[in-house]
Amino acid sequence: MLALVTGAAGFIGSHLVDRLLADGHEVIGVDDLSSGGTVRPGLELWEMDVGDPALAERAAARRPEVVCHLAAQVSVRASVADPAADARTNVLGTVNVLEAARAADARKVVFTSSCAVYGVPDALPVPPDAELRPASPYAASKVSGEVYAATYKALYGIDYTTLTLANVYGPRQTPEGEAGVISIFTDALLAGRPTRVYGDGSHTRDYVYVLDVVDAFARAAGEGGGGLRLNVGTGVQTTDRELHTLVAEAAGAPDDPEFAPPRLGDLPAMSVDPRATREALGWAPGTGLREGLAETVAWARERMAPA
Ligand SMILES: NC(=O)c1ccc[n+]([C@@H]2O[C@H](COP(=O)([O-])OP(=O)(O)OC[C@H]3O[C@@H](n4cnc5c(N)ncnc54)[C@H](O)[C@@H]3O)[C@@H](O)[C@H]2O)c1
Repeated sequence: MLALVTGAAGFIGSHLVDRLLADGHEVIGVDDLSSGGTVRPGLELWEMDVGDPALAERAAARRPEVVCHLAAQVSVRASVADPAADARTNVLGTVNVLEAARAADARKVVFTSSCAVYGVPDALPVPPDAELRPASPYAASKVSGEVYAATYKALYGIDYTTLTLANVYGPRQTPEGEAGVISIFTDALLAGRPTRVYGDGSHTRDYVYVLDVVDAFARAAGEGGGGLRLNVGTGVQTTDRELHTLVAEAAGAPDDPEFAPPRLGDLPAMSVDPRATREALGWAPGTGLREGLAETVAWARERMAPA
């Protein structure tokens, strides 16, 4: 199969490229290298903006069967500061990628959403059919991208699956990402710098390992999960304080964070229910947090080591 992966040089996209190539597929990547810079061996990279109208023409010439759309403006804070710029990449960019899928006569689009779309939910873990309550322009743009994907299915019969990702972590993540807290703690603890927990440390997140996430994408690129929103997370909540302890343990560093006032707009708790994803795709998060953190810290240690 020929797959087109947008955001292919990013944290998650670069792992997805590895996975698809290892499965024997051909992969074209689309990335403007604005935040990602990991171009994997064997990848045919089209260095361009996802909003570039030339994308449809190029896709029509190569006719990828599946389009995995991961390129995005990924920062909630940046989306609040400049909602129009966020929408240009995440809404108009997504429409342009869907146009490219149409021009290529693609079978399926796998759209990348975020658990931010659930806002402050009524209950945890959030099921995928919970009410959507976007509380940032970033979350609104992800809701919108999913609605457009559904529209293209209705209009043109291009199938889609929306994968709603919890907080993804693992090797190649940089501290700027949506779930940057693990890389921030890791880098600081390995370098012996102080670490900071905002609030009293009781906020929770659902941490899912990047290789498990790309396994969900590889499965969604098949026949299953058509027309569905599926959660990609563990259903487990980890508090900020617990997370610090686990990263410190993995890094062999003291577990002694500073505490700072809570940050405005931070959601108090999140975890997503992955049971429907298991039913639709046979997917389950196989990597425990301790195991995933050990891999992540080992990667960061190697990266920081003098050459
Ligand atoms: N990391 C997480 O925890 C997380 C959680 C939920 C959802 N997501 C979503 O997963 C996807 C991948 O995120 P990531 O963590 O790998 O981030 P990332 O920043 O590492 O990857 C995004 C990639 O998209 C590229 N890009 C950005 N704007 C572009 C544009 N206009 N045209 C072409 N390429 C562009 C960047 O250069 C980068 O390589 C995003 O859609 C993000 O919203 C991530």
